[in-house]
Amino acid sequence: MKVLAIESSCDETSVAVIENSQVKSNIISSQYFHTKFGGVVPELASRAHIKSISTVCKEALSASATNIEDIDAFSVTTQPGLSGSLIVGSNFAKGLALKYKKPIVPVNHIEGHLYSGCLQDSAVSFPFISLVVSGGHTLLYIVHSYSKYVLLGSTIDDAAGEAFDKVASMLGLGYPGGPQIDMLAQNGDPNKYSFPRSMLDKPNYDFSFSGLKTSVKYFLAEHFPDGADKAQLSDIAASFQEAVVDVLVQKCIKAANEYSAKYIIISGGVSANSHLRQKIAKTAETNNKKVVCPDMSFCMDNAAMIGFIAEKKLSQGIENYFDLSFTVDPTAIRRNKLQNRT
Ligand code: KG4
Ligand code: ZN
Repeated sequence: MKVLAIESSCDETSVAVIENSQVKSNIISSQYFHTKFGGVVPELASRAHIKSISTVCKEALSASATNIEDIDAFSVTTQPGLSGSLIVGSNFAKGLALKYKKPIVPVNHIEGHLYSGCLQDSAVSFPFISLVVSGGHTLLYIVHSYSKYVLLGSTIDDAAGEAFDKVASMLGLGYPGGPQIDMLAQNGDPNKYSFPRSMLDKPNYDFSFSGLKTSVKYFLAEHFPDGADKAQLSDIAASFQEAVVDVLVQKCIKAANEYSAKYIIISGGVSANSHLRQKIAKTAETNNKKVVCPDMSFCMDNAAMIGFIAEKKLSQGIENYFDLSFTVDPTAIRRNKLQNRT
């Protein structure tokens, strides 16, 4: 079966062709122009998707040497994300499904991330722990099968990526802040300053990063009212990063132990963080667990992960995927949403 998948929930326009769980192509066009605005501008994002989606789709077909007439099904991200951006992808995909008279699978973007490690490593076995950590979400799941997963915890305030971006802005760094903090921290001492590890003492899997962000703000006002030099900034960045990574890693390992999961998958923009990747791999090894941090093209927003889970849904054959009446839903996932899918 050949599935053509479309992802346009935020600032990446992506189209992929998946065949029998194999990625035949995965074209991603990123909207870098948002950096000068210090964040994604929704109206500009949707206009950019409109401009690029047709070209990205042609590239995905050509890179996989596929004729569009040979596509068996379409799929598209319908939630969560920016409304305008989701609508562009959704309408484009509906148009294709209508024209070629093929089924179309609406996919939840988070579901795509959840299984992205399976794209990378076919040895991943159920149950596994999946951490989705991005600018909008910090979600920890236990995944039992391709159709059953349970949300164990989520952030109760800021997402981890949001904290990286806000602290980066306090340190005078550009947007997106995560990669800049990651780079600066390479030369810093992660134990120089002690920032709070929120929720680590709680017997649940929720996260909170707002207090950490505020404590960096007060710390800077108290100790560096006139600004910090490069070496001091590196120490602050490394110490802040250590606090975020500590919480993420400890909660993942705790969940893997409690649910007897052998594998931990981490995905979303923050999973690109070099310190997170190193620390989780090391801690997992000492706990006899395996970590899958997908390559950047599978852990950032991409259509391959959407097509992968769409193909699994199609093979279950439960729903009527010829129904074009589905709509988009921008609402971010927090507890009580996408919680107990069985
Ligand atoms: O998944 P993503 O591309 O978009 C969504 O938020 O959906 O994630 C973007 C987030 C931003 O907050 C960015 O600062 C963060 O991921 N990020 C990082 C790194 N690269 C991107 N955070 C920490 N370290 C990084 N290397
Ligand atoms: Zn995402």
